[in-house]
Amino acid sequence: MRAFVSLLAAICAVTILAMTRVLPAHAQDIKTTFMVYCARCHGEGGQGDGTDGASLAVKPRDFSNCALMSKIPDATIINAIKNGGASVGVSKDMPAWGEGLNDQQIHDLATYVRSFCKK
Ligand code: HEC
Repeated sequence: MRAFVSLLAAICAVTILAMTRVLPAHAQDIKTTFMVYCARCHGEGGQGDGTDGASLAVKPRDFSNCALMSKIPDATIINAIKNGGASVGVSKDMPAWGEGLNDQQIHDLATYVRSFCKK
């Protein structure tokens, strides 16, 4: 039984190591980046229905709402991601990502945010 438990522990440890290695630092795929950093508030489909978003005073907006999103310039989207919600006059609950993500990733995320609006 003990051997079984330590085997199980070893398997868990290896799995966790493998997972942390493929997550943030090497998340080449921008969809993965969105799922890791953004989906918890903005929702996997960008509809503002992430589990952490539900408890916020200002709900993350629906990125799939084309009418609404078309009113927001690219520069605002990029700024919001880089410098946080307060920098563009939306909720301060939107964190700033400029420290953790580089400009290319932020640019790619902005494009990904746009992709939720399907016309
Ligand atoms: C803690 C929850 C939370 C996380 C995590 C989060 N956001 Fe937000 N975000 C918000 C809230 C709240 C707003 C303000 C309401 C709105 O405009 O959607 C916002 C606003 C935005 C806006 C601005 C929309 C506008 O009106 O100008 C963009 C773009 C955005 N988020 C993208 C992202 C991206 C990309 C990520 C991941 C790197 C992310 N957010 C992570 C909560 C979050």
